[in-house]
Amino acid sequence: MAHRCDRQSAPRDPCYRGCSPYPNTSTAGSGPTQHPSVPCCASFTEVGEPITLRPMHLLDFNAQHFSIVRSWFSSEADVVQWGGPAVSFPLSDDQLRAMVAEGETVPPGRRCWMVEHRGDIIGHAQLGHDWHHGNAVLSRVAIAPAARGSGLSRPLVTRVVDQAFRSPQIYRVELNVYSWNLPAIRSYEGIGFVREGLRRASVRVGDARWDTVIMGLLRHEWTSPARSRG
Ligand SMILES: CC(C)(COP(=O)(O)OP(=O)(O)OC[C@H]1O[C@@H](n2cnc3c(N)ncnc32)[C@H](O)[C@@H]1OP(=O)(O)O)[C@@H](O)C(=O)NCCC(=O)NCCS
Repeated sequence: MAHRCDRQSAPRDPCYRGCSPYPNTSTAGSGPTQHPSVPCCASFTEVGEPITLRPMHLLDFNAQHFSIVRSWFSSEADVVQWGGPAVSFPLSDDQLRAMVAEGETVPPGRRCWMVEHRGDIIGHAQLGHDWHHGNAVLSRVAIAPAARGSGLSRPLVTRVVDQAFRSPQIYRVELNVYSWNLPAIRSYEGIGFVREGLRRASVRVGDARWDTVIMGLLRHEWTSPARSRG
């Protein structure tokens, strides 16, 4: 079947040959790889069969993803912006293994995910849990550097918050974000998080001190995630 390649008009869709539209974000192992010189088409196989690409979904974070996440951060500021003051540069497999290990308790103290979108790994996020008080902490949200600026953070965060409120014990989701991190704040506000406070000059990175904004979202304030799905 003849078809027109729509790579130009849909640059964020992977092609049937496995080309990744996001450099350096290919799925490890059998996932998409870069083939920049071959023609691309987002919607059809070579014999004209339509392809169904999975929409954004969460994958359990494990050791095969460590090198992908490590590659996203190249300075102490990068790592602290993402992971908070408890994480240090360079990000190591030991630090990531410790995050995964927090999920091995019953119930899990932490859940960590990679986020796949149309065949590409495009993000990461975590939820910490205080089961006794019914609080979850949304943390370590990241969009892969090459995929930033594409509006993917809001649907990513929506899916993770949805996971939190699927547990009936969780009544509140909270987060910390640095006051200058406008794309992150905009994304959190966009799905309903409310600014609750400011911890001034609470984190030191090199010679700088960063203000931390505290944001929260309560169960009764959470509306259907379908409106934000991308
Ligand atoms: C924060 C992060 C997840 C946001 O993802 P992104 O792909 O850059 O941002 P998006 O394209 O999804 O845009 C998010 C929102 O910010 C807005 N935005 C983007 N740049 C902006 C800027 N400089 N100022 C204000 N708003 C901005 C977008 O318009 C969008 O708003 P909308 O949903 O109302 O349209 C991503 O930049 C990232 O991974 N940063 C490094 C790690 C990090 O900071 N994590 C957050 C820890 S709390």
